[in-house]
Amino acid sequence: MTRKSAKSKSETTPIEAAAEMAALAKSIAHHDLLYHQKDAPEISDAEYDELRRRYLMLRDQFPHLAPQNDPEQRVGAAPAAGFSKVRHAAPMLSLSNGFTDEDITDFADRIRRFLQLSPTVGLEFMAEPKIDGLSASLRYEDGKLVQAATRGDGTVGENITANAKTIKSIPHQLVKPYPSIVEIRGEIYLTRDDFIKLNAQRERAGEPPFANPRNAAAGSVRQLDQAITASRPLGFFAYAFGEISKDNCKTQVDIRQQIKRWGFTLNEPAKLCENTENLLAYYHKLAAERHKLPFDIDGVVYKLNRLDWQERLGFISRAPRWAIAHKFAAEQAETKLHKINIQVGRTGTLTPVAELEPVTVGGVVVSRATLHNEDEIERKDIRAGDVVLIQRAGDVIPQVIGVDLKQRPKNARPFKMPNHCPECGSLAVREEGMVAWRCTGGLICPAQAIERLRHFTSRLAFNIEGLGDQRIQELWQDKLIKTPGDIFRLHRHRKALETREGWGEKSATKLLDAIEARRTIPLDRFIYALGILQVGEATAKLLARHYLKFSHWRSAMVAALKEGSENWQDLISIGQIGPLVARDIVDFFAEKHNLQVLDDLDDELTIQNYEPPAAGNKSPLNGKTIVFTGSLTAMSRPEAKAKAESLGANVAGSVSKKTDFVVIGEDAGSKAAKAKEFGVRELSEAEWLKIIGEE
Ligand code: IVH
Repeated sequence: MTRKSAKSKSETTPIEAAAEMAALAKSIAHHDLLYHQKDAPEISDAEYDELRRRYLMLRDQFPHLAPQNDPEQRVGAAPAAGFSKVRHAAPMLSLSNGFTDEDITDFADRIRRFLQLSPTVGLEFMAEPKIDGLSASLRYEDGKLVQAATRGDGTVGENITANAKTIKSIPHQLVKPYPSIVEIRGEIYLTRDDFIKLNAQRERAGEPPFANPRNAAAGSVRQLDQAITASRPLGFFAYAFGEISKDNCKTQVDIRQQIKRWGFTLNEPAKLCENTENLLAYYHKLAAERHKLPFDIDGVVYKLNRLDWQERLGFISRAPRWAIAHKFAAEQAETKLHKINIQVGRTGTLTPVAELEPVTVGGVVVSRATLHNEDEIERKDIRAGDVVLIQRAGDVIPQVIGVDLKQRPKNARPFKMPNHCPECGSLAVREEGMVAWRCTGGLICPAQAIERLRHFTSRLAFNIEGLGDQRIQELWQDKLIKTPGDIFRLHRHRKALETREGWGEKSATKLLDAIEARRTIPLDRFIYALGILQVGEATAKLLARHYLKFSHWRSAMVAALKEGSENWQDLISIGQIGPLVARDIVDFFAEKHNLQVLDDLDDELTIQNYEPPAAGNKSPLNGKTIVFTGSLTAMSRPEAKAKAESLGANVAGSVSKKTDFVVIGEDAGSKAAKAKEFGVRELSEAEWLKIIGEE
């Protein structure tokens, strides 16, 4: 394939690429509209294809700089306006993943330990296929379908009611009897045959094909014109309840039967399994026969059958402890590695990336793969020009597994990491004991600054609508936003915004309003937004819960700089925060620029104190720090910990002056002595059970 383009890949800088992609996206949208809606194209099909090819080439190289109106994400000529938002009555969760048989036996063992079941007690699981589609929640009031929503971020999804109503297997009216409110969760999907037919149709019509059935289903549902959705043969499999006003189900089997009686189609083949051996037998059989199913599945899901046990097990982060997705092995393919490029991440890490001859793996065209770091390349002896084996596991970035040495070209040379950052030219260093090379350019490095800002405004952080990659890129380039605090001073540049090309008063106001709406932010989101190494959503929550106030956290982290200090001890006493994560947090505070950014933000924002979950408000454990020592007879340690956390407590690993309670189990050791030393209140197991209302 020849590509006529002004500049080759390696010559295009990220800034140029972002600008060019934005211009191309705009132009493609314009021509889509002319072609699909006005039936009046201005350019030839070949010229149009060239725009898309050039766009795709840039997006492959700079996926993180793709504009918000990415033509590849848009289906056909869907108008640009969005769907209204829906807040889910009960959050839509995800599943944790297992890959090996051992992951599954571990999963069952964890459940046994948590529930303190003896090995002789049977554990039944429902095993179901995991369909690769788009999850949806359907709300029925008095038996009538009143609302359908996509999962979105799990809390807020898009309102797709009109579109869902066009799907034949979604009943508009439930079969009696039904409770006054019920939400049905399930997956909207497209069969493989229909996917192939749809793509053939699209190609005939000069439209770009979908990469896989899942994208096709998602694209078909997220159509503002419901006539288009109606024209696609989508199906719906139901597998769970969301909110429900009344039910008599005691098991997963009951749930399935109930869902079926109301008129839904269940995902089959499902099987009730009495033990892990049966689960694994089901898994291996389905893995071997998956290609015979009419739809794509990417694994199977196991759900503990007893609902009372499900309830006790509860959730960890965003996934239930009582269910797991057992994924199928990744699909692999061989292709040529043309070149190794370096990508600079938000934290300055230089990641080598393989530029590949495009190849289809598991239904998706892959042209790049991560090579992780210098040691990995050396270990696998990967060189430019090699034929490599790559694999894709679900949505995970493709990886290079190994090299076919027999096909190695004679002139292939070992790879050498550059000692300068390809983005800003600053010195790149590999610190002792670290695998990664890092750019020392800090805030002067565009890759780092822009990536940091991008993370800062992202969905789980400040979630500023209208301040996506493209705009950050633009505003950074024009020096209107250099640091996070600048975002909240953008209103001073209202005139400059309004007069920008393609903006105007309306878009400026919209953006400034969206920014104002985020001037108040919960502490955990704020911490997450800072993009500290190793501090993801869950760790940010732990920190917020422990320190409660921004000012406490800031001063404690500065004081924790000395390892061994009381504040350092306190930081690592937070369950799940080990010394390595603690080191990264403290290092962040050791950097003067970071403190300046924090103080600047503190001036601009109202950082809300941590609010424990509503259920915890009335509990005497709310906001308290608790330590468990010795073994409890009524419940396992993980169950006790989960219970305490659900009541708003922090569970710490060791006793300090700040500990409020120590629960003393059997054979308690030094922690009990420590509790006495610090005068911390001790609780017997009976007292603990009383506090949690389970005596
Ligand atoms: S149960 C709390 N069952 O997989 C548990 N999910 O990776 C909620 N999925 O978001 C999910 N088939 O969209 C469940 N048989 C099945 C499923 C299934 C596909 C999807 C679902 C979920 C995702 C998690």
